Amino acid sequence: MRPTFLELRKLGPDDGRDIYEMLREIPAEESGFESPANGKSFDEYKLWLQKCDQSSKQVGIVNGWKVPQTVFWLYEDGRPVGFGKIRHFLTDALRKGGGNVGYAVRPSERGRGLGTKLLALLIVEARKIGVESLLLTVRNGNTASIRVALANGGKIKKVTEERHYIRIDL
Ligand SMILES: CC(C)(COP(=O)(O)OP(=O)(O)OC[C@H]1O[C@@H](n2cnc3c(N)ncnc32)[C@H](O)[C@@H]1OP(=O)(O)O)[C@@H](O)C(=O)NCCC(=O)NCCS
Repeated sequence: MRPTFLELRKLGPDDGRDIYEMLREIPAEESGFESPANGKSFDEYKLWLQKCDQSSKQVGIVNGWKVPQTVFWLYEDGRPVGFGKIRHFLTDALRKGGGNVGYAVRPSERGRGLGTKLLALLIVEARKIGVESLLLTVRNGNTASIRVALANGGKIKKVTEERHYIRIDL
């Protein structure tokens, strides 16, 4: 297979149709990963981008629960193929479920190693943000995500009836 060029681009309020089209392909909820722009009109998506952009710049917790979060789009040869979210720090609720990082790949592009590369690139960004270790809370049946985390140096810390708790030290 020919090599492709992969890069992360940070979400911004000026993001356009290419991202919108990708988000229409990624379900609103899948194995606990939420993709809130799914099902939104283009105008609603643009408002959502603004909120995400503000969240990335937020300092401290808002409304008692909302921690700062930065979203990155994964582009392959100039076309968006997935995205990831980094939460800058955790609350007790996020330690139980949610963790620091979530990621998704367009369904049509899965199984080609992109999920593994996406997390590797998110780790680089998390270090830049100043996160010292990443907690992933992955539903037990989500083999693909567990493998993505383990391939990126993840250590399984705990397994409950519901989730694998995987830590990646940065
Ligand atoms: C998790 C996800 C990002 C993986 O993306 P991907 O591009 O398919 O990942 P990769 O191609 O890098 O595959 C990673 C590993 O999972 C395996 N895998 C992929 N799809 C699989 C599946 N449906 N069932 C079991 N294993 C699977 C691959 O064989 C690979 O294993 P290997 O490293 O031993 O070869 C993607 O499935 C997804 O977007 N899922 C929905 C959202 C989600 O669950 N996010 C994680 C929330 S914690």
